[in-house]
Amino acid sequence: MPIEIKNLRYTYPNSTFSLEIPRETFPTGLVCLVGQNGSGKSTLLKLLADLLPADGAVAVNGQKLADYLADRRLSKIAYAFQDPNDQLFNSTVAEELAWSMKQARLPAAEIAARTDKILEEFGLSAFREQNPYDLSLSSKKLLTIASALVLDPEICLLDEPLMSLDYPGRQLVTRLIRRRVARGKSVVMITHDMDWLARECRQVWAMSRGRLLYQGPVAGLFADQDLMEQLGLLPARAWQLSQLLGLKTEILSPDEL
Ligand SMILES: Nc1ncnc2c1ncn2[C@@H]1O[C@H](COP(=O)(O)OP(=O)(O)O)[C@@H](O)[C@H]1O
Ligand SMILES: [Mg+2]
Repeated sequence: MPIEIKNLRYTYPNSTFSLEIPRETFPTGLVCLVGQNGSGKSTLLKLLADLLPADGAVAVNGQKLADYLADRRLSKIAYAFQDPNDQLFNSTVAEELAWSMKQARLPAAEIAARTDKILEEFGLSAFREQNPYDLSLSSKKLLTIASALVLDPEICLLDEPLMSLDYPGRQLVTRLIRRRVARGKSVVMITHDMDWLARECRQVWAMSRGRLLYQGPVAGLFADQDLMEQLGLLPARAWQLSQLLGLKTEILSPDEL
């Protein structure tokens, strides 16, 4: 399901930062957004989710998100915030997961069944009746991702989903992203982890100062040293190693070593 952008412009009130993207279409599958802090990645993701009032348009499948009814919209596009404290607002973990399912008017029995299943999948069953604010940062982060996935949306927007997760948590989220993409769904995610990007992602969009400077394969981005410098990014370690060793074919994934 394509997301199309036309003349998207946004400036925060009382801020000099402006985001401008004339015309772009997100391919389906996984797209990673990269760039320095403050380059506008989170702002773009919020604009895609229609969480900020922008000029211009974002259309999903040819229709503006604002025109989707609330109950259908949540199964089209879901969003997980960079900071879980901005997202969590229910008094228990189970209610947090149930919220979007209630908005989508799923029957109570199905809400209960899906809640059990996703709690189990994310290793959060023990926290079911706890207040989300009492969880550790990594469990909060997992809960926001679980809440975004619970309606199995066509498009999932994940703002730094790997941030503050331990290794098993990262493996879990990586597996879920892979599985969604294999089922033809779209994921747009922000990450600073160039090793993860090299291993998992084929399509990368790079931002600087509110502008898109690159869209294409990861290898093309890493190979452009001037652009990498301008973006303030360091290539994946496997890539750096292959450069140091003078290998003709650059190694992108550490799995290839
Ligand atoms: N609510 C806000 N009000 C004013 N300025 C903001 C707000 N949120 C972000 N900004 C500014 O917008 C710019 C881009 O921020 P953001 O999209 O969060 O970048 P990134 O996610 O790439 O780190 C930054 O300069 C930031 O200070
Ligand atoms: Mg951000």
